[in-house]
Parts: sequence; C-alpha cells; structure tokens
Amino acid sequence: MYVAPSILSADFGNLAAEIRAICEAGCDLVHVDVMDGHFVPNLTIGPVVVSAVAKAATKPLDIHLMVENNSFFADLFLPLKPKFLTFHIEEEKHPMRLIDHIRKNGVSPGIVLNPHTPVSAIEHIIDEVDMVLLMSVNPGFGGQKFMPVVLEKTRALRALIERKNAKCLIEVDGGVNGLNAPDLEEAGADVLVAGSYIFSSNSYEQAIRAIKLEF
Ligand code: DX5
Ligand code: ZN
Repeated sequence: MYVAPSILSADFGNLAAEIRAICEAGCDLVHVDVMDGHFVPNLTIGPVVVSAVAKAATKPLDIHLMVENNSFFADLFLPLKPKFLTFHIEEEKHPMRLIDHIRKNGVSPGIVLNPHTPVSAIEHIIDEVDMVLLMSVNPGFGGQKFMPVVLEKTRALRALIERKNAKCLIEVDGGVNGLNAPDLEEAGADVLVAGSYIFSSNSYEQAIRAIKLEF
C-alpha cells in the first residue's frame, strides 16, 4: 500500500518543514490539492507555492486538480514535473485529449471520480490512465467523514481493471484513517490519501505505518 499525505491539513505557516517531515516519516507520494473556488467551494494553492513544495519534497508529487478549466491548470503544473497529475472526469469534455497532453509532458495522467460518479463512466478510458482516484468525500475540504459506498466502488473498479487487463493504480481520497485502511486494502486500493489523520497525529511515522498496515 502506498501512502500519499494530503498537505491540505499541514501547518501552512511551516510548510517546508511539514513536507520534509512527512517524507522522512516514510510517505510514498506528496498529495497536493489544487482548488479553484469554482469546481469546489474552496481555494488552495497555485504553482508558486507548489513549486516550493516540490523543492522541499524528497518524494514525488501527486497533484489533484479540483478546477473548472483543467487544461489551463494542467499547463501551470506540468512544468513542476509531478509523478501524477489527476483531473475530475465530471469537469472534462475531452478527457482523452488531456490525458495525451499530460503524458506527452512526461507526467502520469490520472482521472478522479466524485462519490456519485459511477465507475462505468471511465470504462472506455481505463487503458489510457496510470491512476484512477476515487473520492470518498465530496471534494473541497479536509477532515470529512469517509463514505463507505467507496468500498463497493473500489471493488467494481478492481474488477474492471482485471477485466480490461489495465495497468492503472486505484487511489482513494477522503476520510482515510488507520481504521478503514484495512477495508480499503481488501477492496483493492493501491494508494491511500490521508490529510487530517496524518497531520493531526502525534507521530507522522506511526500514522503512515498504520495506513500501510505495518505494525
Ligand atoms: C478533499 C481533498 C483531500 C483531502 C483529504 O477535497 O481532495 O485530499 O485533503 O483530507 P482528509 O484525509 O482529512 O479527508
Ligand atoms: Zn485530494
């Protein structure tokens, strides 16, 4: 299991130190939530701050776009060379075109599904992406409650990946903690995003280990 702490719950007054701390604590990716105040009712950070995050990080970035104009924002963040750049299927008229554009820039493309969006929405593009991110809360804020319906969606997505013999990873984001991580692993998740659970813990290392089911 890979763990991607969401820096939305980090202390932004000490951001570089927080990034170094989660990387030293054993995370696999650094999850960066980009919100535009339109697709979701919240605003976060742009390329200036994310470039500072990239400099402090010793692990690859996983940038999650929650924006209306995906192409515009993709072009702001692609030069920072994240490992993954993911965008919401609900907000993209031409997902295949954007996937190609991201890949041509040397970044792994991924697609995000809101809690209400069925897995079948990506049946015909699953071969094209390196990751599918299932939202387990309504996007916009950290610290919300995990929606158990996503366990069923994770199983459905795992079955689709097997049926299509696709290679993409399954990532789950929202309300993830040490208690629901075993169920998510059993359902077939590969990458778990956790913000408030990790950043509110006394030991980032122990919180990451708990999600990885290492005791
Ligand atoms: C929500 C974001 C998440 C969020 C996760 O819109 O995409 O990455 O920060 O935070 P927790 O783990 O606190 O739900
Ligand atoms: Zn996220």
